[in-house]
Amino acid sequence: MGLFLQVLTVLVITVSLQGWLPLSCLEEERIALLHLKDSLNYPNGTSLPSWRIAHANCCDWERIVCNSSTGRVTLLDLLGVRNEELGDWYLNASLFLPFQQLNALSLYGNRIAGWVENKGGYELQKLSNLEILDLESNSFNNSILSFVEGLPSLKSLYLDYNRLEGSIDLKESLTSLETLSLGGNNISNLVASRGPSNLRTLYLENITTYGSSFQLLQSLGAFSNLTTLSLEYNDFRGRILGDKFQNLSSLEMLYLDSCSLDEHSLQSLGALPSLKNLSLRELNGTVPYGGFLDLKNLKYLDLSYNTLSNSIFQAIGTMTSLKTLMLYNLNGQLPTMQELQTKWPNTYNPRPM
Ligand SMILES: *[C@@H]1O[C@H](CO)[C@@H](O)[C@H](O)[C@H]1NC(C)=O
Ligand SMILES: *[C@@H]1O[C@H](CO)[C@@H](O)[C@H](O)[C@H]1NC(C)=O
Ligand SMILES: *[C@@H]1O[C@H](CO)[C@@H](O)[C@H](O)[C@H]1NC(C)=O
Ligand SMILES: *[C@@H]1O[C@H](CO)[C@@H](O)[C@H](O)[C@H]1NC(C)=O
Ligand SMILES: *[C@@H]1O[C@H](CO)[C@@H](O)[C@H](O)[C@H]1NC(C)=O
Ligand SMILES: *[C@@H]1O[C@H](CO)[C@@H](O)[C@H](O)[C@H]1NC(C)=O
Ligand SMILES: *[C@@H]1O[C@H](CO)[C@@H](O)[C@H](O)[C@H]1NC(C)=O
Ligand SMILES: *[C@@H]1O[C@H](CO)[C@@H](O)[C@H](O)[C@H]1NC(C)=O
Ligand SMILES: *[C@@H]1O[C@H](CO)[C@@H](O)[C@H](O)[C@H]1NC(C)=O
Ligand SMILES: *[C@@H]1O[C@H](CO)[C@@H](O)[C@H](O)[C@H]1NC(C)=O
Repeated sequence: MGLFLQVLTVLVITVSLQGWLPLSCLEEERIALLHLKDSLNYPNGTSLPSWRIAHANCCDWERIVCNSSTGRVTLLDLLGVRNEELGDWYLNASLFLPFQQLNALSLYGNRIAGWVENKGGYELQKLSNLEILDLESNSFNNSILSFVEGLPSLKSLYLDYNRLEGSIDLKESLTSLETLSLGGNNISNLVASRGPSNLRTLYLENITTYGSSFQLLQSLGAFSNLTTLSLEYNDFRGRILGDKFQNLSSLEMLYLDSCSLDEHSLQSLGALPSLKNLSLRELNGTVPYGGFLDLKNLKYLDLSYNTLSNSIFQAIGTMTSLKTLMLYNLNGQLPTMQELQTKWPNTYNPRPM
């Protein structure tokens, strides 16, 4: 008992000492966080109230995660901290350089238009652990691409709803990129001008409403390593998805939800040999009789929120690989639930027909 208490006392002292040791939060990083707060709050904001000088352990501050063994900041979530009414502004990228173990950074929704001019932009290779960067819903133009090229470990980049336009080039330093999200930008094509691309997951939502869909789809043929592609909220009527789609021989998951599609635009889907999951929710109009019915390896098909014809169901009935059929909120002449579930036990429809 006595020994146990002694051990306990030693433990308590050790633990409370650690609270004072820099290990729990590096002084250098704590000061850098306070600079960052000043910058985000300029001229008179009130965000990040727990980031206070008097509060010594910055690992306990809101929107921060530290590595427990090094005490260094590994995640910084600065989503929507800047008062939007202040309009577009420029952030000093050098403020992030002290965070050498930073792995994930979100600056989502802060109306950042670029970085203030300084050498910092060219020292970004110091952020050698940054793998995930979320810059969605800001005001960046294409020059953000040459900036992120300086990040040696970047794997996931989210740039949706910025001011990108025209051609997007994943140059050599972006070859480590595995996930890219560019929705809501006015872009016309995607190229990897200097070498192969490791891109596996690509999100291109809500782009062709701007009217530049065809060329963009054609350019995707060069990304034959893609396994997941999302093209939700686009208008593909009258634009065949493209022969180049045949190059996407690794594609397993395709989202075409909330798209406008016609029969021709669906025909080319039959040429995607590896496709396992296909989501065609909430198409604009009756689901056309399309090439997706020829997909030999399709396991999962989502046709929810659609008007379907009975002949489509007859055709789906011949798809032997299909395991799961999602059918929420359908309209049209439909088979009974019992008929469906006899064929596909994993048919989901919460609404009795
Ligand atoms: C904050 O600053 C902005 C821009 O300078 C100004 O328009 C606004 O009135 C200020 N708000 C307060 C509460 O001081
Ligand atoms: C914390 O940092 C150490 C040393 O760099 C590293 O080995 C470990 O994987 C990190 N832990 C986490 C959870 O990232
Ligand atoms: C940007 O931040 C760095 C590091 O705090 C500082 O040295 C530099 O002067 C800042 N640049 C500008 C233009 O404010
Ligand atoms: C893009 O933004 C940068 C600021 O980051 C600016 O200097 C440049 O002029 C902008 N380019 C265009 C074409 O608007
Ligand atoms: C999109 O970009 C094209 C040129 O690439 C331009 O003609 C068009 O006006 C742009 N649309 C919008 C909404 O900015
Ligand atoms: C696909 O990725 C591999 C490496 O995993 C690479 O060797 C190949 O060149 C890439 N293909 C394309 C078309 O980028
Ligand atoms: C598509 O983008 C436009 C322009 O940015 C936006 O107004 C609209 O809300 C977006 N649609 C969806 C479904 O996100
Ligand atoms: C298809 O991919 C190969 C590499 O896998 C590439 O050489 C070829 O140019 C691509 N074709 C098209 C039409 O993009
Ligand atoms: C494909 O659908 C299955 C359900 O059948 C799901 O478990 C899997 O995660 C989906 N794959 C992708 C890449 O979304
Ligand atoms: C849906 O289709 C109708 C005509 O069939 C068209 O007028 C409308 O613009 C389409 N809506 C979208 C979001 O594509």
